[in-house]
Amino acid sequence: MPSGAHKPSPRLCPPAFPRAVGVVGTGSYVPERVLANADLEALVETSDKWIFERTGIRERRIAKDDEFTSHLAAAAARRALESAGIAATEVDLIIVATVTPDTLVPATACRVQSLIGATNANAFDISAACTGFLYAMQVARQFIANRICGTALVIGADKLSSLVDWTDRNTCVLFGDGAGAVVLRPTEHGGGILASFMQSNGNLAEILQVPGGGSAIPITAANADQNLRTLRMNGRETFKHAVTAMVHACFTALDTAGLKPGDIACVIPHQANVRIIEAIADRLDVPLEKFFVNLSRVGNTSAASIGIALDEANRAARIRRGDRLLFVAFGGGLTYAATVLEW
Ligand SMILES: CC(C)(COP(=O)(O)OP(=O)(O)OC[C@H]1O[C@@H](n2cnc3c(N)ncnc32)[C@H](O)[C@@H]1OP(=O)(O)O)[C@@H](O)C(=O)NCCC(=O)NCCS
Repeated sequence: MPSGAHKPSPRLCPPAFPRAVGVVGTGSYVPERVLANADLEALVETSDKWIFERTGIRERRIAKDDEFTSHLAAAAARRALESAGIAATEVDLIIVATVTPDTLVPATACRVQSLIGATNANAFDISAACTGFLYAMQVARQFIANRICGTALVIGADKLSSLVDWTDRNTCVLFGDGAGAVVLRPTEHGGGILASFMQSNGNLAEILQVPGGGSAIPITAANADQNLRTLRMNGRETFKHAVTAMVHACFTALDTAGLKPGDIACVIPHQANVRIIEAIADRLDVPLEKFFVNLSRVGNTSAASIGIALDEANRAARIRRGDRLLFVAFGGGLTYAATVLEW
């Protein structure tokens, strides 16, 4: 190989999967209650103008107290199964990506299994913050490609409002609740998921974290008033790393699929900040019109973000059979990933 020539690392080579895996149904759910920027003006020192200009967000949806992550996830899952024309009993595998599980034990995926009646499935959760949906899709892909199962339900669901510090204007304006789901099955004619790239950088864990409530700092009577079970974020650092990591993930996944940015019909990015999306569009040299953006209405819904956007794009006929789609996400961990899919 001549020096300077591209030499892909072995783990990035397109794997020789026994069978291709594609999306056969999509679904999403957001709670009814709308929290507009104007409502936040009553909680913290902020303004609709600042929030919209700096993030692109106008409003977000907030779940009721008795509406848990499993309820959001089950609603999205039912819609995905309906759009696929598949009964819940046909599902072999349920993966829920979430950082806001109903309970630590059991997994939220098991609760979803019970709510939708998927009696023949095995179910577990994945924790990769806002990148969780793409991580879960890639895990489910392996199960199907390697013939361990035939039908998988992948759900990204988060009730981030349960982790938000409503006195912190740096974070409380960003997040919303919701769930997005896809049904994965082997594709008969190839296509489907063409490539996926996943990476994390644990050295940057502190820039986006919930410090308390785990085994490191359990919440006790002594620290209960310290607000430790809420989200802490260094916004500027997060922004900077998000753009670099997401662009790297996009190019690596595209390279693995043997495609160029210009081959992509629609980019569905994690909906965190419209300025992050604009920066990615600029670096990929893909017009912004090719990006599906819904964050003005739903805000950052964490693991649900790409699933909700994909379902909305699908139902709005923004994507057609044969289109190449690019999904790209970034989240706490730090985690990041990109997936190329032929619809
Ligand atoms: C959070 C974010 C919107 C802040 O925007 P920014 O342009 O970087 O703003 P800065 O943090 O530099 O703050 C600029 C000023 O606005 C203020 N500010 C922060 N939040 C504000 C709010 N909601 N309303 C009004 N002012 C606010 C800051 O206090 C600061 O004031 P100062 O200059 O007097 O100190 C932006 O950094 C961001 O989106 N980062 C990525 C976050 C993210 O996506 N997280 C999830 C990843 S999955």
